[in-house]
Amino acid sequence: MTQEELFKSLIAHAKEYGFIFQSSEVYDGLSAVYDYGQLGVELKNNIKKYWWDAMVRLNENIVGIDSAIFMHPKIWEASGHVGAFNDPLIDNKDSKKRYRADVLLEDYIAKLEEKIEKEVEKGKKKFGETFDEAQFRATNPNVLRNRVKADEVTAKMNESLNSGDLEAVRQLIIDCEIACPVSGSRNWTEVRQFNLMFSTQMGSVSEDAGTIYLRPETAQGIFVNFLNVQKTGRMKIPFGIAQIGKAFRNEIVARQFIFRMREFEQMEMQFFVRPGEEISWFEKWKEARLKWHLALGLGESKYRFHNHEKLAHYANAAADIEFEFPFGFKELEGIHSRTDFDLSQHQKFSGKKMQYFDPETNENYVPYVVETSIGLDRTFLAIYSSSYCEEKLENGEDRVVLRLPAFLAPVKLAVLPLVKKDGLPEFARKIMDDLKYDVNCQYDEKDSIGKRYRRQDAIGTPFCITIDHQSLTDNTVTIRYRDSMEQERVPVEDLRKIIEEKVSMRKVLEQI
Ligand code: GAP
Repeated sequence: MTQEELFKSLIAHAKEYGFIFQSSEVYDGLSAVYDYGQLGVELKNNIKKYWWDAMVRLNENIVGIDSAIFMHPKIWEASGHVGAFNDPLIDNKDSKKRYRADVLLEDYIAKLEEKIEKEVEKGKKKFGETFDEAQFRATNPNVLRNRVKADEVTAKMNESLNSGDLEAVRQLIIDCEIACPVSGSRNWTEVRQFNLMFSTQMGSVSEDAGTIYLRPETAQGIFVNFLNVQKTGRMKIPFGIAQIGKAFRNEIVARQFIFRMREFEQMEMQFFVRPGEEISWFEKWKEARLKWHLALGLGESKYRFHNHEKLAHYANAAADIEFEFPFGFKELEGIHSRTDFDLSQHQKFSGKKMQYFDPETNENYVPYVVETSIGLDRTFLAIYSSSYCEEKLENGEDRVVLRLPAFLAPVKLAVLPLVKKDGLPEFARKIMDDLKYDVNCQYDEKDSIGKRYRRQDAIGTPFCITIDHQSLTDNTVTIRYRDSMEQERVPVEDLRKIIEEKVSMRKVLEQI
């Protein structure tokens, strides 16, 4: 199965089992907006808790807030979003389809990279053990030609985007002979800048209505509350403020399921530090955040850092943690050293001081900020996509299993009476009524036990317990493990300990 087919299967699976639905599906859907179903919301809440506890509970100097989505419109002028939160877009005149000009070019570069990798694979097969990859990359004419082209287009694209030369961006698309995937033509319009913020009106139209924006990031809610939290919480620098909340962006190219959405959730933390200490904090947070990801156990090779060479005007260091999604390595989290840009801008635009008095140095200053910003939906997709497995069992049967980290699984325990009679359902209910206070349990008595196991495998339930006639006489049940499918007989009174031990978030938090 190709990665593309696998990705399609997991999207279908997410719908079939109540993880994610297309928004407004009965009205044919709303593009790039999704609803989380009954199991999706459980998984999402567990991810939020893992992030929140790692940030707020484990760090005495980090506190959380929940700021409003609507904010004063001047905030977005101060932050630079009104002026510069743009994507370059281009239309194809024949298909009338709209594209992000930079994405057309990035896809073109990705195809060249793919060709290079295919050539290397061919070389590996041809030369076997004697294959010298470095030499092959440095000498093979096809690899070299595509390498030069990819580097050249990347450099020209970065140069024209950074200088805001939209005509040069268009010319590059034409020079690369990029065609519209729908019409196949190269009949392109000019490239225009398109602001990504959604706007709406506050107040009744007849009165003094003003344009306000749906926040495109949660970070600004933290910046404008910096002094409120610092003073009321008696926080001393260095300290952090964390927040989980919705953000909205009118993405032109919204695709790859929940990877790029128009309404999504961010988990952001702004860490306020002394000027001059920001780079060492930036390095510390890079390391701490990677540890948080690795403790999920999805595999070290799934993650890599991408250090930004070209920095935004307000940053003096920036890196992304990229994850290997089914469509390749892409940004999952950004860690940015944002200097004192945001607080200074709010000081300027609001006319209110954003300074901190440092009792240790007896100085007043605008703190510097190191930000960690991760998409909740992207984290969901990272976990979901790397947990999704289609397996062929030894007996020839197929099974779909979600190998979710046990502590994040939406349902931790399925309680299954072997038959619907002889007192087994009542016995099962008693166990469930006891354990439901500790973990999320699901009771199921419909269909054969094999079918019920499959249903639980498909939603990632780490444990199933089966109650049979022996249970009534010796107070034992069979516990079945999702990943190994092994079963063992255990006393009912041991269940809580066995399950809690395996689904404990504490154990994971202790690793980070
Ligand atoms: N405050 C900094 C900030 O917002 P960003 O790189 O634009 O930085 C941070 O966004 C994270 O939010 C990204 O790494 C990504 O995980 C997530 N994100 C951004 N745009 C998204 C979208 N359209 N859909 C889903 N997640 C998105």
